[in-house]
Amino acid sequence: MSSIAVHVQGLHMAYNQLQVLKGVDFDVETGSIFALLGSNGAGKTTIIKILTTLLQQDAGFASVNGFDVAAMPNRVRESISLTGQFAAVDDMLTGRENLRMIARLRHLAQPRQVADDLLQRFGLTDAADRRVSTYSGGMRRRLDIAMSLVGNVPVLFLDEPTTGLDPEARIAVWTMIKTLAADGVTVFLTTQYLEEAEQLADRIAILHEGTIIANDTLAELKKRFPPAEVEYVEKQRSLEEIFLSMIGTKERS
Ligand SMILES: Nc1ncnc2c1ncn2[C@@H]1O[C@H](COP(=O)(O)OP(=O)(O)OP(=O)(O)O)[C@@H](O)[C@H]1O
Ligand SMILES: [Mg+2]
Repeated sequence: MSSIAVHVQGLHMAYNQLQVLKGVDFDVETGSIFALLGSNGAGKTTIIKILTTLLQQDAGFASVNGFDVAAMPNRVRESISLTGQFAAVDDMLTGRENLRMIARLRHLAQPRQVADDLLQRFGLTDAADRRVSTYSGGMRRRLDIAMSLVGNVPVLFLDEPTTGLDPEARIAVWTMIKTLAADGVTVFLTTQYLEEAEQLADRIAILHEGTIIANDTLAELKKRFPPAEVEYVEKQRSLEEIFLSMIGTKERS
């Protein structure tokens, strides 16, 4: 039997008059990769903030790693790590110092070793002793994700993990995410790149106008939208076409 790492039921959230979440429900299985899709402003980051205890919901229930986010925020924080939509690295420190700082904050026994291993895995060894202010966008993003991996947490939240990365760096991050999931880490990610969801996700959920309007495997989503018949050639629908038809947007040609 599979266990549930993230459980969300009837989640509501408003910012003043703006009702962003209007009853959001979904579950994420332990060790799976779950991709949350939605247009800009749909509320993806809002859901991540609630699940990572940065924001408290107006109504509804959410638990992470079995802990109620509203009632046991400290237990949730011990179970997770978050790479936010905007990088959380300290510009004035070097890459190595950033990693060691997190390792110390997480009370790890060997912060040096942990930092060195992550620098190696993310191809940052050569740049390890340079200030982050001199890093390229892709290097900062890699460091940011490396920082979220300090301490082997069971649930990882990645808010648009590859935005701004070049194709090579993006593929490196994908490989890393797949490896983590294979090791049993639950990965919750949001993305604007539908190809990213196609590549990675065991399940894909679409958030639209405050609720989840689809939550399925890619294969199931494709079944719901049969191939378009173009004369004699059957063309398999891309996730992008499925997404756009679900949210009711006219396809851009
Ligand atoms: N602190 C806030 N105060 C007021 N409104 C907010 C606040 N944070 C978010 N919003 C609004 O709530 C809506 C959802 O925002 P959110 O950041 O969750 O969307 P998103 O799906 O992550 O978008 P994006 O794809 O652009 O990252 C948006 O309309 C946004 O302007
Ligand atoms: Mg966002």
